[in-house]
Amino acid sequence: MSTKNEYEKKNVDVRVYIDKLRDKIDNYFKKDASGHSIDHLERTLNYALYLQSKEGGDVVVVGISAFIHDIHRIMGAEQNRYVSPKESLPVVEQFLVELDITLEQKQHILYAIEHHEEYSFGGGVKVTDIESKILQDADNLDAIGAMGIIRCFKYGFAHNVIDYEPSVPLYQNQFEEWKEDESSIHHINNKLLRLGESMNTKTARKIAKKKTKLMKDFIDMYIEEFTGKISED
Ligand SMILES: [Fe+2]
Ligand SMILES: [Fe+2]
Repeated sequence: MSTKNEYEKKNVDVRVYIDKLRDKIDNYFKKDASGHSIDHLERTLNYALYLQSKEGGDVVVVGISAFIHDIHRIMGAEQNRYVSPKESLPVVEQFLVELDITLEQKQHILYAIEHHEEYSFGGGVKVTDIESKILQDADNLDAIGAMGIIRCFKYGFAHNVIDYEPSVPLYQNQFEEWKEDESSIHHINNKLLRLGESMNTKTARKIAKKKTKLMKDFIDMYIEEFTGKISED
């Protein structure tokens, strides 16, 4: 009903695989309350196919890895701890068994999923293949902008993170993946504002620009309203 899979519709190769996966993934993700719902997978898929149309790469690897990349989040919610993408690979493999893909494509999908959360400023392996770069960028594009703000607060509500902590100044400090941010506003400031500049591809950096501006404006307006500053212009 929506245009969210605009790029899937244009690509018959990928659509066949995604159609096969959709019911199973939909079922698997019904239990989610962490901001990593099936909607996030649909949007990540759409960004990934758009980026692939501009940047190249194997469209089947890009599409499938984008659509099933966050299985580790559901496993984490079930186990009440952080489950890394690497730990999720045996479960990911089960989703791939019925698909008519080559062994090379299967290994490539697993590789891209394993490394999708290793950002350049967070340490870890720096991926060099275009398919893994696109998956990281697509995932990060959905973490910023209007949707990023909503997902950040949803996560906060689900995990008892407060909206804002005024005693801790907002500044671009050194990002630490494992450090808890003091509030949702701090998370937007400390992490999400930095994602745009760390995108792997030129196309994603362009898309990220207006999303980053919106988040900066949102924080500024939030602080104004929080502190009771009133202005007529
Ligand atoms: Fe993830
Ligand atoms: Fe994700």
